[in-house]
Parts: sequence; structure tokens; C-alpha cells
Amino acid sequence: MNKDIFLIGSGQTRFGEWWEKSLRDLAGEAVEAALKDAPCTSLDIDMVIVANMIAERTNGQAHLGALVSSLFPHNPPALRVESACASGAVALHTACGLLESGRAQTIVVVGVEKMTDVSTEEVADALMGAADSEKDAPCGLTFPGIFGLIAKRYMHEYHLTRERLNHVSSAHHRNALHNPFAQFRKEIPAEHISQSPAVADPLCMLDCSPVSDGAAACILSTVKESDIKIAASQLASDAVSLTERATITSFPATKRAMEKALAEADIDRKSVSHLEIHDCFSIAAVINVEDLGFAEPGKGVELYEQADPVPSINASGGLKACGHPVAATGIKQVTDMAKQLRTSGSRFGLTQNFGGACASCGIHILEHTHV
Ligand code: COA
Repeated sequence: MNKDIFLIGSGQTRFGEWWEKSLRDLAGEAVEAALKDAPCTSLDIDMVIVANMIAERTNGQAHLGALVSSLFPHNPPALRVESACASGAVALHTACGLLESGRAQTIVVVGVEKMTDVSTEEVADALMGAADSEKDAPCGLTFPGIFGLIAKRYMHEYHLTRERLNHVSSAHHRNALHNPFAQFRKEIPAEHISQSPAVADPLCMLDCSPVSDGAAACILSTVKESDIKIAASQLASDAVSLTERATITSFPATKRAMEKALAEADIDRKSVSHLEIHDCFSIAAVINVEDLGFAEPGKGVELYEQADPVPSINASGGLKACGHPVAATGIKQVTDMAKQLRTSGSRFGLTQNFGGACASCGIHILEHTHV
């Protein structure tokens, strides 16, 4: 990073079904929690960045930068960032750039999504905006369908069995038991995952992240300090259409973002103690740990078969159990990572947030400086 950027405050709403709360309410609640956590007041915020993907479709609301800015007494300048499910990470990256350039000194980055006001079918259709509307959508695919194809191919190439894949969601649900902000807090034995209703063969309902409402906020600053620094903020992109990929069992954008992030933080991946990865579907988690370099291709599931993998994976419960209000997820991962570093006393933690089938990927490395 060209400047020291500190995470001086963060907070979130519980993710879930919030029928009685509006987008504005959810964003406001997350901002309030982040401000409460930070050594600053709302008047110290000199810019607002809002991550959101589908509010036009689910809530009939655009212009979210100004909407969230109006929660502040001084209406700071604001903008909205969209990069499908990676909107949160891309918003954080945008904030880092503005802070490095000196255009702003203290920025609140808010991710918000309210998805449960419309039917699952309407949400699935809106989320398909993250896919290629000319090349992939016309054949009737949805995102569970896309990841169903990916899972089928992965199982064919690496002989992964359905039973072994069950460990992924089961571990994420177990991790969420102690997370008061998680949408689902119940233990689900591994064998129950593949017994849940089929969604897109071979994926079942319990392989899928749910449809969720929620918001998360992080306050980043170059002038106020805390014990958590952003050691790296990197993005990478890939073809949106699966038809333009050389393989669908590995995501090159993750690999590229990871190499750049490790170089920026000037660390080896062995220094990373905790991961929060983008497990929108169980198979994505398996591929992610491989692309991040923590497992050999075809062996990612082995980490999920261990009681205490090193590094830890989605100690929060991940998207599967915490919920996935899409644009809030990348910011919530950073919020969680700060807690994990402080609780464990570890130095480095990494978040990986992707959009679509990893056509955009954002990686942040957080450093706990009081270790
Ligand atoms: N995990 C665990 N429980 C889930 C769940 C999930 N993914 N999805 C729904 N449920 C639960 C609901 O809470 C509800 O429980 P209740 O009866 O105790 O209230 C029950 O299952 C039925 O919920 P419903 O909303 O009717 O399910 P659905 O069939 O409409 O939707 C999915 C299920 C899997 C299709 C939906 O969650 C989905 O589309 N997920 C993927 C979202 C997505 O694509 N995100 C973007 C990733 S790139």
C-alpha cells in the first residue's frame, strides 16, 4: 500500500430475513455499529462508498450513494460500486485508492442488500445479471445451475464424491454456531447436506448460500489509527462467460489477485492464519482454497475433512451459514476478519470475495499490528 490505511471501525446487521427493515434502515444500522466501534464521529467521515448489486430489481431503489450519505448530518460526497457479489471487495478497493491518493482521509464503506422482498425466482433472475447475458443466460442457467455444472465437471476431473463434498457446508454451519450475526445457527451433520432438496444436480439446497438481507460497514482512515491495517487490497478479472474459460474447475482471477496481494503485503501465504473465502456454493469453497494455494488441485476438500485446518477457513460460518446479501458480503468478511485477528492474536488474515463465477475477485490482507 502507498500509505498506511487503518480499519478504525466496523460493524454489521445480523444477516437474514428483515422484512420490517428497509435498505436505508439496514445501511444505517451497519454504519451506526461501525461508528460506535471507531475513534471518530460521523462528522469525521469525508466520503461514503456504497456497495450494492440488485437494489433496482429487488427494492426499486437506485442512487444509493446519496441515499446513505443522507444518513450523515453533513451529507458527505458519495458513490456506489457494483461488481456483482464482489461489490463489497471492489468498494473497499476503491476506498483504498481514494485514501492513497489523498482525495479522502476517512471513508465509510457500506455494503447493503435486501433480497427477500421478492420471490426466489426473481432474485435468481436478478443475480443472473452477474453472468454473460448473451452467451450463458439464454440457455436457461441460474447461478445454482452454473455452479452445478462446475461441481459436475470438478467431480469428473478429480473423482470427488458427493459424500466428501458434504463436509464443506457442514463445517460452515458448525462454525456459525457461535456467530450472533449469522442467518443460520444450527449444526447440520454432513450426511444431511446431500439429503436436502436437489437444486442443480449435484448441488442440493444445503450446498447453496441463502437469499439474505443485511448490511456491513467498515471505516478506513489514513489519519486515525487502530491495531488493524490493510496490508493489501487487490483485484483481478476474468471472462464473464464460462464459454470463454480454458477450465471451469479453477478460477484464474483468484490466483492472480492472490499473487498480487501476497506481493503487496510482502508475505508468504504461510503467514496467513485465517481465511474468509467466498463459499457461495460448497464447490466454490473447494476450488477457492486450491486457487489460493492452500491445497493442491483436486485436494481442497481435504482441508474440510480436518477438525482444525490451518489456516482456519470461514470461522464466521461463511456465506453458507452467515447468509449472503450479495454486496454486503465482502465488507462483512473484513469485519469478521478483524475480530478473528484480535481474538486469536494472529498477525495476518485474508478475505477473498468474488463476483459471478469469479469473473471479478477481490482479496484483502489484514494485519494485526499489536502482535
Ligand atoms: N441454506 C439453508 N437453509 C435454506 C437455504 C439455504 N441456502 N435456502 C432456504 N433455506 C431455508 C429457509 O430458511 C426456509 O426455512 P424455514 O421453512 O424454516 O423458514 C426453507 O429453507 C425454505 O426456504 P425458501 O426460501 O422457500 O427456499 P427456496 O427453495 O426458495 O430457495 C435456494 C432455496 C437454495 C434455491 C436459494 O436459497 C438460492 O437460490 N440460493 C442461491 C443464491 C445465489 O445464487 N446467490 C448468489 C451466489 S453467486
